[in-house]
Amino acid sequence: MCRLTLTMATSSPPHPKKARIVTSTTSIQKQTNTDDATTMSDEPDEVYIASTSASLAQYQSTHATSIRDTAAYWSDLATSKLEWFAPYPPGSVLTGNFLDGSVSWFAGGKLNVCYNAVDRYCLAPYNRGQETAIIWEGDEPNNVKHITYLELQNNVCRIANALKAIGVKKGDVVTLYMPMVPELAMTMLACARIGAVHSVIFAGFSADAIADRIQDAKSKWVVTASVGARGGRSLPLKSICDAAIKKNQCLGIVEKVLVFDGHGANGSDWVQEADVDMNVHVKFTELVECQRPVCSCEWMDAEDPLFILYTSGSTGRPKGLVHTTGGYALYAMHTTATSFGLTQQTGPSNPNAPHKDVYACVADAGWITGHTYIVYGPLLNGISTFMFESTPMYPDCGRYWDMVQRHKITVFYTAPTAIRSLMRFGDDAPKKYDLSSLKVLGTVGEPINPAAWKWYYDVIGNGRCAVVDTYWQTETGGHIITNLPGVTPMKPGSCTLPCYGIEVVVLDAATGKEIESSPAEGVLAIKQPWPGMARTCLGDHQRYLNVYMKPYPGYYFAGDGCRRDEDGFFWITGRVDDVINVSGHRIGTAEVESALVAHPAVAQAAVVGIPHEIKGTGICCFTTLANGFPESDALIKELSQSVRTRIGPFATPDMIILTPALPMTRSGKIMRRILRKIAAGELDTLGDTTTLLDPSVVGELSAKVEKLR
Ligand code: PRX
Repeated sequence: MCRLTLTMATSSPPHPKKARIVTSTTSIQKQTNTDDATTMSDEPDEVYIASTSASLAQYQSTHATSIRDTAAYWSDLATSKLEWFAPYPPGSVLTGNFLDGSVSWFAGGKLNVCYNAVDRYCLAPYNRGQETAIIWEGDEPNNVKHITYLELQNNVCRIANALKAIGVKKGDVVTLYMPMVPELAMTMLACARIGAVHSVIFAGFSADAIADRIQDAKSKWVVTASVGARGGRSLPLKSICDAAIKKNQCLGIVEKVLVFDGHGANGSDWVQEADVDMNVHVKFTELVECQRPVCSCEWMDAEDPLFILYTSGSTGRPKGLVHTTGGYALYAMHTTATSFGLTQQTGPSNPNAPHKDVYACVADAGWITGHTYIVYGPLLNGISTFMFESTPMYPDCGRYWDMVQRHKITVFYTAPTAIRSLMRFGDDAPKKYDLSSLKVLGTVGEPINPAAWKWYYDVIGNGRCAVVDTYWQTETGGHIITNLPGVTPMKPGSCTLPCYGIEVVVLDAATGKEIESSPAEGVLAIKQPWPGMARTCLGDHQRYLNVYMKPYPGYYFAGDGCRRDEDGFFWITGRVDDVINVSGHRIGTAEVESALVAHPAVAQAAVVGIPHEIKGTGICCFTTLANGFPESDALIKELSQSVRTRIGPFATPDMIILTPALPMTRSGKIMRRILRKIAAGELDTLGDTTTLLDPSVVGELSAKVEKLR
């Protein structure tokens, strides 16, 4: 039975929106007409055909080639897209395997990512030094800077020389705790230039979280700013860093804190903490200014680490994923060009391709999205990238659309949570602005609900733009499943089809066997290595193996559940581990639990996700109290503060429920499955509760949750 509603979307307006189209030319259509399999959802999927059958067939053929001989596919791109100081030996394109986590790409080849992202565009044959590399818009809309490739090169060199001057060496880990200012991207590139490994910590993390990461990476150097600005408020970043380096776990590790100054509303906002040794701080803006704007690039091996990025996992301890130089650079560059349909396809083979895109990813560079799709991917492609310091709500909910109009943005990339929160204000704000420059709209970080997808498509894109739903992870380095603009038909809520070079499979969660027919439901895994994959967890390769490689030997296990529909399109059904996705931020429930039990009043804590209209998932905490601590609203506030202090404000719980008991098995295990159902109000699907020590807990807890809703 055919269950697809086909909806037309073409790139040349006007066009019939939501018109049923009858065409036998797309393979999707063909499959629809012949496939009698039952779908896994009761609702028909809508399909927006933004492509021709020829482009989809072309994708399918290129994708098949890219996974048939994946080493050849990536090697061709590595030589045509990147400039190498020394070529990799022919046999070293891809070596190693998932089983022992020994994957390596292009080993022995020498290159520098900063050279590829900056310097080469200032030189012949590109000669683009005068073109804009970074458009920065500060917290206040009138605070805009355009930085050319040549200016970027000069600034990066100065910062690189300043880092060297204080003793930073190849292989050292430099921690960055910075606002979204151009100096953040420049410092990342400066590290890459001299072979230092950056570890960027999102500026919403607390002092405790920074200290844990500094300790884990044994990072002697920390770069911060005196203050940051967001939504009209000043963020005391230097003070938070100072608090971090005073913590026990950092003692004896940090040698210097390099402070960029002058971003505050009043120029300098330097605050000298009385109890931090003055000699630790370096006035970095001054040191940078007096450096020479020339600094040679370190020759890095393709497998040398480029950066570490911490992410949450099933345990309380964040893991530092290590990304390497050659494979990551290639993957970032290639996916940026293909997923967003960049009109300029730069590379040594095509140096003078026209530069037409104004590309804006409005994430924070503190997360992987910012690393790959604000800094490295766009600059490696030689386009201009946008850095945005503020929030979508400042000074009002029209900020994004005002920026699209003023900067004539062509590609706009954000998270579903931002779309949902803007949608609440209605269509008036976007309608005030000219959004006709837009061509591609991207989403990332969590599944996008069809209502938000359609609002983005209809109201922001005016039914003319491709909406690319990009599925990926910190670990994958870049997109692994997404539609391609003008190529893949779109289904609201589905991230659609695998990226080139990515062989995605659905495994039966229990048996680990590949499910070959569609529709299918199970866990998502990848069958072959790809260049952008993280190579290890810093200092703990065993953990890397345990989390990603051992659950299903021979595959990379992503930790997400998924469904593949009858057309072969993927739908992410959410994490299958103890990680929740709050506003697109990945948070380990164990991290929140350990923040709660750190409070003396808490005896036990269990944290689960709860459906949330804007955030996608909210944080719901169930806690039992230690003897002598009475329940009170004041205590709930203290517990919430404890989480903010241990992790950061973005992890603030949405609900804290104090309870005399938690649902436990007779063997003393907390039944989180039951808590998830209670939190979601799904009592009719609680499943088996006979193993509970005291089944009456369920009723009491659900009454409490209902009261708080
Ligand atoms: O659960 C998936 C979800 O975000 C997780 C990765 O989080 P993180 O490493 O913080 O990276 C976020 C930005 C890439 C995934 O395991 N996720 C990411 N993108 C999507 C998604 N879920 C559904 N659809 C997406 N497009």
